[in-house]
Amino acid sequence: MAEKWTPKTWRSKPVQQVPEYRDQAALEAMEARLASYPPLVFAGEARKLKKQLAEVANGKAFLLQGGDCAESFAEHDADNIRDFFRVFLQMAVVLTYAAASPVVKVGRIAGQFAKPRSSSTEKQGDVELPSYRGDIVNDIDFTQAGREPDPARLEMAYRQSAATLNLLRAFAQGGFANLDHVHRWMLGFVKDSPQAHRYQVLADRISESLNFMRACGIDPDTAPQLRSTDFFTSHEALLLGYEEAMTRVDSTSGDWYATSGHMLWIGDRTRQLDHAHLEFFRGIKNPIGMKCGPSIEPDELLRALDILNPENEAGRMTLIARFGADKVYDHLPALVRAVEREGRKVVWSCDPMHGNTIKATSGFKTRPFDRIMSEVEAFFTVHRAEGTHAGGIHVEMTGKNVTECTGGARAISDDDLSDRYHTHCDPRLNADQALELAFLVAENLKKERDGRQQIAAVS
Ligand code: PEP
Ligand code: CO
Repeated sequence: MAEKWTPKTWRSKPVQQVPEYRDQAALEAMEARLASYPPLVFAGEARKLKKQLAEVANGKAFLLQGGDCAESFAEHDADNIRDFFRVFLQMAVVLTYAAASPVVKVGRIAGQFAKPRSSSTEKQGDVELPSYRGDIVNDIDFTQAGREPDPARLEMAYRQSAATLNLLRAFAQGGFANLDHVHRWMLGFVKDSPQAHRYQVLADRISESLNFMRACGIDPDTAPQLRSTDFFTSHEALLLGYEEAMTRVDSTSGDWYATSGHMLWIGDRTRQLDHAHLEFFRGIKNPIGMKCGPSIEPDELLRALDILNPENEAGRMTLIARFGADKVYDHLPALVRAVEREGRKVVWSCDPMHGNTIKATSGFKTRPFDRIMSEVEAFFTVHRAEGTHAGGIHVEMTGKNVTECTGGARAISDDDLSDRYHTHCDPRLNADQALELAFLVAENLKKERDGRQQIAAVS
């Protein structure tokens, strides 16, 4: 029998990656205040996302999840959000069209603030200070005052999330996502990139199809699916005090839901079976994710699924594989087989970012684009071999023309990294690279679909 769960039972378990707040009373007062604030998302929306993810788990749809590694208070302008959303829509359209598969759209946005760190301190020269843990905790500035965890930041993160979500809801529902605008989503700098032509060809075909449908009497005015889209939010629920404050009982079902975002995930550093994060996650009914890095064993994964999804509900669990391009074949097949053998319903998603981070000779943390692409290829290859559905990708990306990951069609070099290296944490794909990745995924999805059709034809 599982022990009784409440939003605070995690507090009696060991916990990783917690900031050390100097003023506990101030922290508690802030958490109490947040608990009285309105929810950011509704339980009904989280249920809708879970239903869509169940389609992914059943091989009938694809999950596109992406956004910043860490959102920042400094970069909270509308253009930033719009540019991200635009590239994200372009990627989604490439996937929907090329693979003829519905795409479930989930941003790493409107709450993606807290960061796990491999070391609790950072050293620069002779000075050692607490590590930066995301704007919800402390400041990226390398000063004693900046690195001090500050409870007031929880409220700033909440308010920024609310404002971001508000704009995203307007973009998704208010006409920006109208498929008639598929050409207008071209960003200035993508326009003259090698991806531009491919996207243009695809956008032309979509416009042609829309014209045909219009002639048949179906257009964005009459069919809401063509003029709006479902867009959901997600983040790593690392800072459990914040998450607890945002966890509420849904009046319709009587169940507990985290209302800080539609989908939450557990990071690779905080997935210990008997620790606080799994304890918190087991009680909320949202769709959830768990990162699976090279250290996870098949048995451990099954036990995590026992704890997190005892009813084996499709759409509840997304397993986000992040091994590194050269390690996928060593780890993924055994995990996929264990899950299949036990009949567990999961979405398999590929995070090709976090296993491929290196330090460039220039000193910048970067990710070679060819390794990102090859991890995605390997992920699809394994699923094709196992006869399972490669269900999604999870990427760190931005709509801005940054130079953070090397390579891509514009061949960003080590020396270019300093030009526009803006991330607050990990290096992100720029719009160009994100689109290039979407085309690669689309080709693989097409292969998966063609393979299935062939099997259906001979059986
Ligand atoms: C992240 O997604 O930013 C992250 C820290 O990932 P992981 O837990 O897989 O290292
Ligand atoms: Co990251």
